[in-house]
Amino acid sequence: MTAKLNNSTQMANLVNNTKIIPIIQINNTRHSVPLAETLMDEGFNVIEVVLRTPNALEAVQEITQNTPCIVGAGSIVSIDDALKAKEAGASFGVSPGSTPELIDACIELNLPYLPGAVTASEMMKLATQGIALMKFFPAEPAGGIPYLNSIMGPLPQLRFCPTGGVNEKNFIHYLNLDNVACVGGSWIAPTNLIDTENWDEISARVKKSKALLAEN
Ligand code: 3PG
Repeated sequence: MTAKLNNSTQMANLVNNTKIIPIIQINNTRHSVPLAETLMDEGFNVIEVVLRTPNALEAVQEITQNTPCIVGAGSIVSIDDALKAKEAGASFGVSPGSTPELIDACIELNLPYLPGAVTASEMMKLATQGIALMKFFPAEPAGGIPYLNSIMGPLPQLRFCPTGGVNEKNFIHYLNLDNVACVGGSWIAPTNLIDTENWDEISARVKKSKALLAEN
């Protein structure tokens, strides 16, 4: 249990000063560093690279070797994924759900882990495994803000990072919930803007989100 608590605490510490985690799909490895630098220039130091492209782990490696950016790898769905993410230099792993084996593997690998949960039973199970910060995915289809608000009554000790349908219009409302630690989403740096190297627009989106954060 102590090891599990430590892993979850490490995960919470990694995102302690982070309100928005850009979720990024990198199709071309050469975009990795300019993208990370664009985000870091605006103070966004924590990102998640999705493991949905053949070069995703290469992109994780490229960013971690060349920048101080804190890079998460997701989705981790097998022990092999966790191992490869760790080898690529990922600072944390993210899953839409979880398995006890994956939780144990991440502890073994010393890879802070953000597992996902939607139902109260899944959340309670993770909580009994020492996990206090969870991904809530897919946030909007699963019930969004009203759902998280309702969960807060019986499970007030849990903290969430909602992702899936979180965007420029609703992220601030998620962050206003007491049980939301941070949010993740692709709206800051969607794939089309990365593919076209539109760093200016990505930078503008970060600035806009930062301004909204400052106002609230
Ligand atoms: C995720 O992996 O959490 C989602 O793909 C991000 O969802 P979004 O594109 O709706 O932000």
